[in-house]
Amino acid sequence: TAAGNLFTVTSPNVMYTDSTIESKYTYRTTSVTTGPDGRFTATPKETLYDFKTERSVPKTGVMLVGWGGNNGSTVTAGIIANRRGLTWDTREGPRTANYYGSIVMGSTLKLGTDAATNRDVNIPFHDVLPMVHPNDLVIGGWDISSLDLAASMDRAAVLEPTLKSMVRKEMAEMRPLPSIYYPDFIAANQEARADNVLPGAKAEWAHVEKLRADIRGFKADHGLDKVIVLWTANTERFADIIDGVNDTADNLLASIKSGHDEIAPSTVFVVASILEGAPFINGSPQNTFVPGAIALAERHNAFIGGDDFKSGQTKMKSALVDFLINAGIRLTSIASYNHLGNNDGKNLSSERQFRSKEISKSNVVDDMVEANSVLYKPGEKPDHTVVIKYMPAVGDNKRALDEYYAEIFMGGHQTISLFNVCEDSLLASPLIIDLVLIGEMMTRIQWRSSGEGEFKSFHSVLSVLSYMLKAPLTPPGTPVVNALAKQRAALTNIFRACVGLEPESDMTLEHKLF
Ligand code: NAI
Repeated sequence: TAAGNLFTVTSPNVMYTDSTIESKYTYRTTSVTTGPDGRFTATPKETLYDFKTERSVPKTGVMLVGWGGNNGSTVTAGIIANRRGLTWDTREGPRTANYYGSIVMGSTLKLGTDAATNRDVNIPFHDVLPMVHPNDLVIGGWDISSLDLAASMDRAAVLEPTLKSMVRKEMAEMRPLPSIYYPDFIAANQEARADNVLPGAKAEWAHVEKLRADIRGFKADHGLDKVIVLWTANTERFADIIDGVNDTADNLLASIKSGHDEIAPSTVFVVASILEGAPFINGSPQNTFVPGAIALAERHNAFIGGDDFKSGQTKMKSALVDFLINAGIRLTSIASYNHLGNNDGKNLSSERQFRSKEISKSNVVDDMVEANSVLYKPGEKPDHTVVIKYMPAVGDNKRALDEYYAEIFMGGHQTISLFNVCEDSLLASPLIIDLVLIGEMMTRIQWRSSGEGEFKSFHSVLSVLSYMLKAPLTPPGTPVVNALAKQRAALTNIFRACVGLEPESDMTLEHKLF
């Protein structure tokens, strides 16, 4: 079936036209007031929205910053292999290309209950709305290393030689565009690979213009309707937030023009993307989205999302801690160790870059702890420590060791020890695909208060991407949700609302009341 054509919704609240799906949606929430005696009054509340989803699927390109890295080369090879339906030999027998690990391509959601059998009818996530198929993505991008993508894939040492040989020819023709390299922002140990760089070692307006021209050129060369830019380059150090420098949109633009040295390459990429109307997603932990960058995105109604792919240890953490605390178990400490031997690990062996990762990994249980006033007093949190070590021998096969220590009934203790081993880039690549596909889809969804005025886009900061991200960026002043189940529910229920379907309540009264 063509994208989004697996089902239709018959409802007076849903209308299909050739170009759009329009839904009238009743958003049901509960409004709470607190009385002087501390008692709550809860009042059900209904807000009516109209959603309008554009049906035609655009020809979409993705430009990766850090294209020649482990993630960049792995996701490129993976998409080529899927597009060509490749099967290759491994010591465990033949393997065929798949999109495992992608929520869009690998997971399903419940459409409803079969009218005849009362059984659940589940459909692929990809079929809820008319989404781009990853096989159709055109891939390009930049890297400070000049290696072609075939050589990058060899350097990454992630994929099987048999698979590599099948995609080698196509990959060898792909070459990253030269990028901007400001050595102060990434580890000194990366210098040796920086042989594909534009002149200038700190921010300048010519860099913004060159990156904008690159985006326009890529779009024109491939006849694309839309380009998404995604940062999967090295983790940078945090930039200082300085009054008058990067605190407002105008100050940020002026600071790039005057060549201020506290502007990170990733922030220059965001500015170029915003000015080109290309959504920008940050897969690394640094504070790319300084306040001036967020303000600039809002001013241009451009889309941004971040930060830091949530692939292994943190994904487990945001599922496990959600479970433990919601089970009424008082988690008291989390000790997380990692060792990895890829270039990401080498970059993170430098103190300032490690600090970015440490910050990103540290706050991921706060919302779950704060939500439980039975187990934790205000301000109380579990102890939480994160250690990362570079161990060249293990390559991309990252090891993550976690100890969760909890207080249970009557002073007892529960200790859960986790040992998570996997190829880091094989976890991150499907997340890149999800971020691009969902990010693109969000550019085609508009809303308004029911019947009132013009349709408009979602807020510039796409917090709906949180499921794939460790330190989700949210619109200024709005809460961060880290709990994995809530993040998935937000995503799936917003998509359902666009086709006029209620959130899945899991009450299954049809199996309980008869
Ligand atoms: P990598 O080190 O293999 O690749 C990064 C690439 O970026 C390199 O090829 C490097 O030459 C390039 N680069 C550095 N600065 C650049 C610039 N200014 N412009 C263009 N290219 C530049 O790292 P890997 O494993 O691919 O990871 C990429 C990023 O994703 C890292 O920041 C990592 O922390 C982050 N990440 C990765 C996860 C994973 O599971 N693999 C999970 C969470 C985050």
